[in-house]
Amino acid sequence: MAGRIPKSFIADLVARTDIVELVTGYMTLKKRGTDHWAPCPFHNEKTPSFKVSAERQTYHCFGCGAHGTSVGFLMEYSGFTYPEAIEHLADMHGLEVPREQGSAAREDLSPLYDALTRVNGWYQQQLRNHPSRNKAVEYLKGRGLSGKIAAQFELGLAPPGRDHLLALPETGEDWCNTLTKAGLLVERAPGQFADRFWHRIMFPIHDRRGRVIGFGARTLDGANPKYLNSPETPVFVKGRELYGLYQARRSHRKLARLVVVEGYTDVVALAQFDITYAVATLGTAVTADHVERLFQATTRVVFCFDGDAAGRQAAWRALQNALPHMRDGRSIGFVFLPEGEDPDSLVRAQGKEALETLVSQAQPLSDVLFQQLTEAIDLTTIEGRAQFHRDAQPLVEKIPFGAFRELVYARMLELAKLNDEQSERTRPVKNPAPRRIAYHYRENSARLPPLSRTAIKLLLHHPSLAADVRQDGELKALNMPGVNLLLEMLELLTARPDLNTAAVIEHFRDHQEGQHLARLVDHREPLLRDGLADELQGALDRLVCAYREERRRSLARKMAESKLDDDEVNEYRTLVSGGSPIH
Ligand code: UTP
Ligand code: MN
Repeated sequence: MAGRIPKSFIADLVARTDIVELVTGYMTLKKRGTDHWAPCPFHNEKTPSFKVSAERQTYHCFGCGAHGTSVGFLMEYSGFTYPEAIEHLADMHGLEVPREQGSAAREDLSPLYDALTRVNGWYQQQLRNHPSRNKAVEYLKGRGLSGKIAAQFELGLAPPGRDHLLALPETGEDWCNTLTKAGLLVERAPGQFADRFWHRIMFPIHDRRGRVIGFGARTLDGANPKYLNSPETPVFVKGRELYGLYQARRSHRKLARLVVVEGYTDVVALAQFDITYAVATLGTAVTADHVERLFQATTRVVFCFDGDAAGRQAAWRALQNALPHMRDGRSIGFVFLPEGEDPDSLVRAQGKEALETLVSQAQPLSDVLFQQLTEAIDLTTIEGRAQFHRDAQPLVEKIPFGAFRELVYARMLELAKLNDEQSERTRPVKNPAPRRIAYHYRENSARLPPLSRTAIKLLLHHPSLAADVRQDGELKALNMPGVNLLLEMLELLTARPDLNTAAVIEHFRDHQEGQHLARLVDHREPLLRDGLADELQGALDRLVCAYREERRRSLARKMAESKLDDDEVNEYRTLVSGGSPIH
């Protein structure tokens, strides 16, 4: 899988991102002095206690304690994973995210893409030329698909037999390896490779740039499974890709909506009926990633699910994953199809207009939300309403701050017959929902002692100070919690004086002692004040003194037991005379 993202890239990215601009994309900030304020998106409140600092490039909520950098904001607000947040920022700056590949240089994925493209072309060729093509063509015709649509979706044929791909001409010596990596070959026995797909209709899956990254393959002879999909590979991540999105984006300069269906053939059949804005997940549930990708392409998403229990459950999962992405201006609707129908069968039986009518009458997300929440609950009883409130509250809180959230919140209160204050009172004062508490107030696993903490905080708030302090070699001998972190910070900032507070936080995100740096940011700490360098130097000096005192005591104890060796005797002498024991 993909290697690590180099730390220097992340630091650069964070240093060049403007958190104010980023956050403004999601909510309205009011400028006061050099800071920007808003009601906190991470807990319910009326008066703004969420502050974004342009200087520090961090945010902090004085109400619930939420805090972090632009990376942290994307993770918290949009539910991105860490690498996704980095990808997103890189996208904003038009940068490609580099990856470390073990100790070797970054893996070159182009052979994989080339192989997938080549094989895709070959499958298409087989649909035109292979002796067994008739059955496939009949099948596609039987499903009402024209040659034009087949060509548009680059449909192909994996003919019977499993020894085709390795036999292709002019492929180079690494071909077998590359095909295996691309998921196109399987190793049946050690050293024995066979085509993964045979006697199937091939549906190539494209990424958003239009590169082929994998295949869905429908059986032609009733073999199981009905659909066989490419495995995940370095270029193919199922929870992120959507079948048909590339084609949909290409057919429309601006997509007024996207319809999400369950099957490859649904997408293609809808396109046959000139509904060119359908996409499908790849045999997986709808993920938060999917939702974000959908909303990058349009503001209106309609999910089409079966009307049965499985469809309802899939819709509920999609809904929960979508809530954190429901910024104002975006909307989601749900269509539940009649039992036994799918978009393919429906459009063929009833035509384009019938299907578009269903889509335009989709049930709003808020309806589905409250319907599901109240389904098994009796709202006429106090007990029922209390339970409803308990279930609803954490879901409402997933919605980003905005009018939509306010309205859903209001509806929740209405159904629970509670007012604002009563609802708020159901949790400890000022504390956000439990999930947030777990996140923001997680116990510091490596509590820093006051001395190193002071120095670390100063450096964190004023990274440029690193240039102004003496860096005693003696510090390196200190074996005290926090000192390693402190030294690494000094080293980093000496080499990279351009880094800001946020970049420092991100650099140490997975550092044992540094992972909680964001929590040390004190938004009351003035940006500039006299004597900062002296203060930092003082803190460093005190650390060294503390170390010497500790060392002197331990040597004195040993001396009392007459266990000192010559070196230790010398060290002790130096220490009591007030000098440095390190040479
Ligand atoms: P369906 O079985 O509903 O597919 O599965 P469909 O598109 O209606 O199939 P036909 O061709 O009309 O009979 C929907 C989706 O679930 C995944 C595929 O992505 C498929 O498009 N799936 C289904 C699999 O991955 N494997 C399977 O065996 C079946
Ligand atoms: Mn079908």
